[in-house]
Amino acid sequence: MPSFVGSIDQGTTSSRFLIFDQNGILVAYHQVEFSQYYPNPGWIEHDPAEILDSVQECINKAIKKFENKGHSVSDIKAIGITNQRETTLVWDKVTGKPLYNAVVWCDIRTHELVHQLNAKSPLGKDVLKKTCGLPITTYFSAVKLRWLLDNILVVKDAYDNGTLMFGNIDTWLIWNLTGKCDGGLHITDVTNASRTMFMDINTLEWSEQALEFFGIDGSCLPRICSSSEIYGYVKTVESIKGIPIAGDLGDQQAALVGQKCFRSGDAKNTYGTGCFMLFNTGTEPVISKTGLLTTVGYKFGKEPTVYALEGSIAVAGSAVKWIRDNLGIIKEAREINELAAKVEDTGGVYFVTAFSGLFAPYWRDDARGCIVGITQYTNRNHIARATLEAACYQTKAILDAMNSDSGHPLKSLKVDGGMTNSDLCMQIQANILGIEVERPEMRETTALGAAIAAGYAVGVWKSLSELDQVNTAGWAVFSPEITHEIAEERYNN
Ligand code: G3P
Repeated sequence: MPSFVGSIDQGTTSSRFLIFDQNGILVAYHQVEFSQYYPNPGWIEHDPAEILDSVQECINKAIKKFENKGHSVSDIKAIGITNQRETTLVWDKVTGKPLYNAVVWCDIRTHELVHQLNAKSPLGKDVLKKTCGLPITTYFSAVKLRWLLDNILVVKDAYDNGTLMFGNIDTWLIWNLTGKCDGGLHITDVTNASRTMFMDINTLEWSEQALEFFGIDGSCLPRICSSSEIYGYVKTVESIKGIPIAGDLGDQQAALVGQKCFRSGDAKNTYGTGCFMLFNTGTEPVISKTGLLTTVGYKFGKEPTVYALEGSIAVAGSAVKWIRDNLGIIKEAREINELAAKVEDTGGVYFVTAFSGLFAPYWRDDARGCIVGITQYTNRNHIARATLEAACYQTKAILDAMNSDSGHPLKSLKVDGGMTNSDLCMQIQANILGIEVERPEMRETTALGAAIAAGYAVGVWKSLSELDQVNTAGWAVFSPEITHEIAEERYNN
């Protein structure tokens, strides 16, 4: 009997439902984009109800396509969920209604609050680093929840009345899919929890120290589970009713699993809305000396927790979207490649895409974007190329930090995500890093990672070695084509 696994991939700009077979072959999928709200400069919100609707639409349409290919839903053994991380949602336990729009991970409205919090301790932004693995910045959920409690009266009222529910997107979806007010599960997994800044990464429990620091009692927080176990069963979506939800991972950790970075020293870089490099450090958390994050990589059931160092870049694909939507230089995202390929270089133009400040390794939430080096000679081709290079140069800064923290320079990097569709961008990346860049043909590795976690929990795959047969086809390797000296000179500019 064939076995299939479904995967909900709820990202920053779109929702998807994908169905994989046992070899990791993508059998059917559907994708829906949803609205982005920018109510003030630096603010980014999503409508939780629209997100839920988009996910349900994706499920129903992908299931139709799956059945039209002659398959049966009864062969879908489990469903995994992967999601944009840190994005903060609050809703009421009794009504099930969201109390505010979701505050998105790259929203910087908490800028002032972060400064006040940093001033509370001589350790500044690193006051919780040993406990949570993270610096205090606008990025993580804890400051977003604190802001909501301080500024939105209905949120504070629900908190005082004991009806407030907090969660990231995974928690919101699981609660809704498993019954909402009628017994919906209020849970999250260790990877998502490790991005709230409320979890102790050593004990995998909510940290009293962190809760006290942010002045929040833990009653509104979800229960923390592993990334791979049967949490519950779908109740509210007819087309997949009764299927177990058995995998839950933040999207970047899911990509780590989907790229099968299971050994200490394996690393992947995902170029999505932002760009995130994760480096598997094994079963012990490693605290970075260079501005990287310590995060939970994954935890399969009762197996040991695997940790990762992460270099987060806030803006990658969103810069391409910006030059499309705000500057109108291109009409479709893929056109950036054609423009960039028309010129040999950027003609001295550099694009610092600090729309949400600068994340790792700098953590400067006061930084803002700029394009420098413009002359009369500059045209849109140069700007297009500089946009691609921006993600590649920032990745170089992350790689340098990672090599310094780990002491073992990376020899190759596995990549995935939208921008990796550009051969030119990947060649630029290999040139700038001076190492090989490896790209799979099937690049839905984030969704695949959540499917792997779910399938592993229900026995579709019984051991990690069984995953050797998964997603093996068609890897492209980009090797550096310029000397180390030239690469360094361009980077140092
Ligand atoms: O931490 C934010 C990250 O999870 C967002 O991922 O794929 O939407 O860029 P993505």
